[in-house]
Amino acid sequence: MEVERTLGLIKPDAYAKGVVGRILARAEEAGLTIVALKTVHWTRDEAAGFYAVHKERPFFGSLVEYMTSGPVVAVLFEGPDAIKKWRDLMGPTDATKAPTGTLRGDYGTSIEANATHGSDASETAAFEIGYLFSGFEQVK
Ligand code: RTP
Ligand code: MG
Repeated sequence: MEVERTLGLIKPDAYAKGVVGRILARAEEAGLTIVALKTVHWTRDEAAGFYAVHKERPFFGSLVEYMTSGPVVAVLFEGPDAIKKWRDLMGPTDATKAPTGTLRGDYGTSIEANATHGSDASETAAFEIGYLFSGFEQVK
């Protein structure tokens, strides 16, 4: 398995529930290493830039509203097969359908308020990591 890097977000709903530490522990138990970590509270422009790929989608305005509603924890993870490993840990997008034992099943509440984000491919991981972390911060 190739060692990869991926970008994870702990979204405002999970931050407000006080489960950041539990989510990070679950990631480490799954074999992901935390290379860089920070808390941000996005402006509308910052959230819209991160989710620019979705700007034509009907849920875009609501997504930006949600992602600016409170702090977000950004994590640069590294590990074997890290992109798929973190997405498997998160579970499906709709938290109401996500199984217990997945992060979204355990901590999310809806298709929007779904606790976590994860890059979906190596190209999106490269963009998202660069969006959140400077080159200096990406060194471990
Ligand atoms: P993410 O990018 O956050 O890891 O989530 P994902 O790949 O599973 O889902 P994606 O289709 O990329 O959607 C991005 C985020 O937008 C919100 N969403 N709302 N109201 C809706 O129908 C709807 N669909 C998606 C979610 O917060 C989703 O994670
Ligand atoms: Mg996505």
